[in-house]
Amino acid sequence: MRVAVVISIFLVISVANTISDKFFPKDFVFGVSTSAYQIEGAWNLSGKGENMLDYMTHTYTNRIFDKSNGDIACDSYHKIDEDIEMLKDLGVNFYRFSLSWSRILPTGLLRME
Ligand SMILES: *[C@@H]1O[C@H](CO)[C@@H](O)[C@H](O)[C@H]1NC(C)=O
Repeated sequence: MRVAVVISIFLVISVANTISDKFFPKDFVFGVSTSAYQIEGAWNLSGKGENMLDYMTHTYTNRIFDKSNGDIACDSYHKIDEDIEMLKDLGVNFYRFSLSWSRILPTGLLRME
């Protein structure tokens, strides 16, 4: 999955750089984005709680064609420095990413009573 994401990002940037001179204003900026569940991994580290996707993929394994889950995903949790280097190499202006809400609010509640 990590390779697919990297290839996708590379293709988007390659195409963007190729066509940017022709179709976009000079001050147009390009960026890439990711979603927490697809890249984050580390589903049970640093006090992160189980979120809906963790629960669904762990509980209803047979409902997923290839029985995959996001437990490790692209492992960006551990490879964030490598990911940032790739973003620098790509020369993007922006990187939009998300964090799993259950890493921020492990129980889904503001108070842990
Ligand atoms: C996290 O989950 C994995 C299985 O996905 C397990 O092997 C590992 O022991 C768990 N780690 C912790 C800290 O609970």
